[in-house]
Amino acid sequence: MPVPRPRATASPLYTPRKADRRTRRTAREQFTSAREQAWHASRPPARTTGPGVDPQLRATYAPAGRPGPASARGGHLKLPPHRMTTATASGAYPFLAEGGLGSQGIYVGYDVHAEGAFVYDPFALYGKLDGFTNPNILLAGIIGMGKSALAKSLAVRAVAFGYKIYVPCDPKGEWSVVARELGGQTIALGPGLPGRLNPLDAPSRPRGASAEDWRTEVRKRRLLLLGSLAKTVLRRELHPMEHTALDVALDQTVAHAEANGTTPLLGQVAHVLGYPQQLDAAAGETPGRLGHAAEDLAHALRRMVHGDLEGLFDAPSTVAFDAAAPMLSIDLSRLGGTGDDTALVLAMTCASAWMESALADPDAGRRWVIYDEAWRVMRHAALLERMQSQWKLSRGLGIANMMVIHRLSDLLAAGDAGSRGRALAEGLLTDCSTRIIYRQEADQLHSAATLLGLTGVETQAVSALTKGRGLWKVAGRSFITQHLLHPRERELFDTDARMYA
Ligand SMILES: Nc1ncnc2c1ncn2[C@@H]1O[C@H](COP(=O)(O)OP(=O)(O)O)[C@@H](O)[C@H]1O
Ligand SMILES: [Mg+2]
Repeated sequence: MPVPRPRATASPLYTPRKADRRTRRTAREQFTSAREQAWHASRPPARTTGPGVDPQLRATYAPAGRPGPASARGGHLKLPPHRMTTATASGAYPFLAEGGLGSQGIYVGYDVHAEGAFVYDPFALYGKLDGFTNPNILLAGIIGMGKSALAKSLAVRAVAFGYKIYVPCDPKGEWSVVARELGGQTIALGPGLPGRLNPLDAPSRPRGASAEDWRTEVRKRRLLLLGSLAKTVLRRELHPMEHTALDVALDQTVAHAEANGTTPLLGQVAHVLGYPQQLDAAAGETPGRLGHAAEDLAHALRRMVHGDLEGLFDAPSTVAFDAAAPMLSIDLSRLGGTGDDTALVLAMTCASAWMESALADPDAGRRWVIYDEAWRVMRHAALLERMQSQWKLSRGLGIANMMVIHRLSDLLAAGDAGSRGRALAEGLLTDCSTRIIYRQEADQLHSAATLLGLTGVETQAVSALTKGRGLWKVAGRSFITQHLLHPRERELFDTDARMYA
């Protein structure tokens, strides 16, 4: 229905020619305000979003561009001419001079500024892009902005490029459906479920590695795992004597297992740690010293054997690793109910250790290891340490890691400035040449900008991002990208539906 257009009429404002200046000025002012009123009244009502359009997906600006003075229209912007190179210009306004990443890679969506398709493949960029030193990705954003949806899309689409997908810990159980759809495998772990994983499983020796080297490597991995588990439960660093005790207990357990033709188990290590005489005898120490030092360790590892994780990681694995399957995920969603994060964190550690050692074959092709909800492990320096040493290896193995967190300050939670935890977290950030930033809370913008070295324009852009839209920093290059979901993907990845169900 057309809105009747109100008219501005000037007749009541008529002033005789001989009126004094003050009256004339008042009349003029009244006329101006009446005209403005009429103009506003005649404007069509503000456009509302149609029922079919997700308000989260609305464009940031109207088709006419930015409103207000920032639009730089109307000829009011007068600046003295300034010459600079395109390199400097791209620093001053990073989105203007962006030439794109080429056309090789996995389709993600569209580049919002260039209005072109945006494709990405960490292995295709390797060696082509200055400063692109590793294939790892950090993805940060508040809940519900589509981080998991992006990770799942990349996973599903990457399979067509010959990648294999591994999700070592899925605390919400949302990846199982993706694995099923791709013809992959899911291992569900939890009380009452039959699945068991032995994190001390020795991976098969890759071609080219000598038996002796591989033995040392496996031992190192097992020690690192035992150390992380103990540190997580004890919430402190280990003393030198405790490291020795772990060493000795592991060697004893392995020797015993090899003699019997079995694989060592966590429970057996805990058992040896609980027998002071045995430890002292094996290490040749003065009686009582090492055994005494191992008391805390024995109690810490007991949690893996008798506590809330009883049996899950203290038995021979019930599944064999299938290197030919396109995807494998470990569903830990049945573990998280108690409110205590430690059980989940310990389970995440064991599950990722088991999977990472299964991935030690450099000839297995390109693989993507996705750590969804990784912010949960950020507070535990021991886990970060394990993760970082795994990442260092992964480059040579053809593995790209993707870590999903909520905010950049999750990285700062690992410790105070200058602490080891902080150094580890910052190292992990350096190990991600690709950083994808989804919307951040206003109070998080500063730390995000500082940690990632964002410009003012980028920081402002991050605060205004809508669902599925992110700032991609690829080795210092910047893109605002809208991730597009196929209707079938949308159906599969819908985490909202489950929330309201
Ligand atoms: N690009 C997108 N377009 C449309 N819907 C999306 C997009 N990304 C995510 N969604 C939807 O938003 C919801 C939340 O996404 P999710 O990936 O679970 O968020 P996060 O992992 O960041 O908490 C899901 O139901 C998903 O289907
Ligand atoms: Mg998620």
